[in-house]
Amino acid sequence: MNNATFPEWRGRLEYVCIGCGSHFPASNLLYTCPKCGSVLLLEDMAAPELKKTSGVKWREIFDGRMGTRIPALSGIFRFYELIAPLPDEEDIVWLGEGNTPEIEAAKRFQQEVGISFSFKNDGQNPSASFKDRGMACAFSYLKWLCRHHGWKEVLTICASTGDTSAAAALYAAYVGPPLKSVVLLPMGKVTPQQLSQPLASGAVVLELPGVFDDCMRVVEILAKKYRVALLNSKNSWRILGQQSYAFEIAQWHDWNMAGLCLFVPVGNAGNITAIMAGCLKMYELGIIDALPRIFGVQSEHANPVFRYYGQPEDKRIWQPVKVRPSVAQAAMIGNPVSFPRVKYLAEKYVQVAGEKSFQIVQVSEQQIIEAMLAANRHGHIACTQGGECLAGLKNALAQGLIGAGEKAILDSTAHSLKFSGFQEKYFNDSFEPEYEIKPDPALANRPEELLANVEAASLPVDELAARGADAVANRLNLIEIESEK
Ligand code: F0G
Repeated sequence: MNNATFPEWRGRLEYVCIGCGSHFPASNLLYTCPKCGSVLLLEDMAAPELKKTSGVKWREIFDGRMGTRIPALSGIFRFYELIAPLPDEEDIVWLGEGNTPEIEAAKRFQQEVGISFSFKNDGQNPSASFKDRGMACAFSYLKWLCRHHGWKEVLTICASTGDTSAAAALYAAYVGPPLKSVVLLPMGKVTPQQLSQPLASGAVVLELPGVFDDCMRVVEILAKKYRVALLNSKNSWRILGQQSYAFEIAQWHDWNMAGLCLFVPVGNAGNITAIMAGCLKMYELGIIDALPRIFGVQSEHANPVFRYYGQPEDKRIWQPVKVRPSVAQAAMIGNPVSFPRVKYLAEKYVQVAGEKSFQIVQVSEQQIIEAMLAANRHGHIACTQGGECLAGLKNALAQGLIGAGEKAILDSTAHSLKFSGFQEKYFNDSFEPEYEIKPDPALANRPEELLANVEAASLPVDELAARGADAVANRLNLIEIESEK
C-alpha cells in the first residue's frame, strides 16, 4: 500500500440484519431487513483479509495519509479500508469534512470541573455538524450506485431535527444531477440557522406539524413505497462514515485509547452506534489495544435510552417516550431508530471492555444550557448538545462513574452558532415554561447602547468619534494617559 495513491483494495460489503442475521448484497440501497424488518449494519466480508496487515502497519498507513494531497483521502476516507472500501476515487465526495480539532478545555475550566477533558469540535465540519461525516460516505456510495446502475434521477430524502437536512442538502447540491434533495422538518422545531441551510443549498424543504418522530414515520413510509434514497441514519452508509469520529480520536491520541471516556449526546442514536462500531473495528484489527469507555447523554426531556438502561438488566423493556421541549433540540427524539443497534453493539462492547464501558447518563435542561454557556465563556464553541455532554460529564463525576486518572472527550456535535437562539432565550429570560429553565440573571450578557440619546446620524464624523470615545471611556472608567510634556 502506498500513501501517495488511492488504494486498490476493495472490500465485499454486505448488509447484515441485526435481528435475524440475514445478509444482503450492497449493490442496492436497503434500510431495513426484507425478512424481519429490523435495522441493518454494513459489514465487510473481506475484513478478515485486513487482519493480515498488522495493527502497527495500519497505523503507519493512516498516519502516512495525514499529509496527502489526494482529495479523496483527505477527509473521512483517510480510513478508506475501515470505512467503506467500495467507491472508486472518482466517486468520493470531500467537502472538507473530518479532521475536526480536539481542543483541550481551558486549564482553569478543567480545574473548575475537576477532571481532564477536551471538546472535539465537530461543528467545524462544512455544514457545521458531525452529520457531514456520514453524508460524505452516503453520497460517495450514491455516486457509485448511480454510475453502476445508470440511474437518471434519484431523490434523496430525510427527516431531520435540522442538521441531517443541512448536510444532506449541501452534499446533494455539490454532487448535482442525478441527485435531488428533499428534506422534511418538524415545523418550528429547527433553529432559523438550521432552516436557512437546506434553503441555501436549493433543496425542497417541507415542514410537517409535529416533532421529529412524526417526520421520521413519513419518510419511512416513502422509503418503502417509492424509489427514494433515505439519508437518515437508518441508512447504514451514514453509520460507516460516522465511525471516522472514533478513528480520528484514536489517531490524535497516538492510537492509545486507554483511559479515554467519550461523551456523546444521544438522539436518533446513530452517532453512538457508529462510535462503538468504529472502536470495536479498530480493536479487532489490533489498531488499538484498549477500548475507550462510552457515555451516552440524554436530556430528561428526551430520555428513552437512559430509561431503558436504568431498568434492572433482566427486566429491561424498550419504550419510546413523548418528548418535551429541549434546548438540545437536535437530539430531541423519543423513538430513536438506531436503538436496536445500540443494544446490539453495547452487548458486544461490554463483553470486550467490561460492564462499565458503556453507560447512559441523564441531565436536566437547566444543566445543559448552563454547561453550554460555561463552555463558550471559556473560549469553546460548544452547541447545546456539546453542553449536554459537559453536563453529562459533571453528573458522571458527581456519581463517581468517572475517575481522576481518566480523560473525557466531549462531542460538540454542532457549531454553537446554530443554537444561538437558546442563548438569547436564556439571556432575555424568555424560555417557555415547558423548558423548565430558570435563567441566572448574573450570566446574561447583552449589548449596551452608546450615545443612546444622541442623533448620531446628524453628527459630523469627527464629533461622533470623539463623543463615542468619551462614552466608552466613561463606561469602562478608563484613566487618561498623562500627555507627554
Ligand atoms: N447533536 C446534534 C447537533 C444533532 O444534530 C443530532 C442529531 C444529535 C446530536 C444526536 O445524534 O441522532 O446520532 O443520536 N440530529 C439528527 C438530525 C437527528 O436530524 O439532524 P444521533
